[in-house]
Amino acid sequence: MSVRRLAENQPDSFIPSQDTKAFAKAAVKKFPAGKQASAVIPILWQVQEQNDGWVCEPAIRWTAETLNMPYIRVYEVATFYTMFNLQPVGKFHVQLCGTTPCMLRGSEELKTVCRNVIGGQMDVTPDGKLSWVEVECLGACVNAPVAQINKDYYEDLTPEIFERILEDLRAGKKVKPGPQNPRHSSEPLGGALTLLNGDGKAKSKGKASLRAKTTAKKKKPKTLKAPRKPR
Ligand code: FES
Repeated sequence: MSVRRLAENQPDSFIPSQDTKAFAKAAVKKFPAGKQASAVIPILWQVQEQNDGWVCEPAIRWTAETLNMPYIRVYEVATFYTMFNLQPVGKFHVQLCGTTPCMLRGSEELKTVCRNVIGGQMDVTPDGKLSWVEVECLGACVNAPVAQINKDYYEDLTPEIFERILEDLRAGKKVKPGPQNPRHSSEPLGGALTLLNGDGKAKSKGKASLRAKTTAKKKKPKTLKAPRKPR
């Protein structure tokens, strides 16, 4: 993973929008008095949303003042989490997982696609559309290799599919997030297997047939004999 530093070129100031101010106020209210620092992550996230996808140095200062925190504490948070971009990014920012499961499933080839289509890490394409960075595990290893683009995950990628996704995004086309092979979610290819016997047949035939079986087994109720008439 690359070293995380603030961008060399910084704006002179950060002016929070009305939305950002209201968001910060509401975020602080969620915590008990004296614990307002707990709102640092959501506020930095909101700041990033307002600032075209990255957190600038004046925004870190504004966040620290708003939360009455030492500047260095907010700086530490912003530079630690890769969810915060410390320099300008493209309209579609790719976070490509390079941790072991994704590496074993082909993330190195995906990095080559990024270099060919976009350029170096944190470079922004001249049209302002794409940028990329390598990150640690995105928590979707079962669908490796994985890339997060803005807020969506793209899983089970191949170099060809990944390149097509990047080109489609750049062209303004709609792309489908999630697994890029025919499987549903993280189920095996071909469908779920855990409820099947070794012969591929369902272990349980469902409620309806179970009910029918139970009913069939039930003994017929004994018919009561009429009491004998006294002689
Ligand atoms: S290793 Fe890539 S998502 Fe976990």
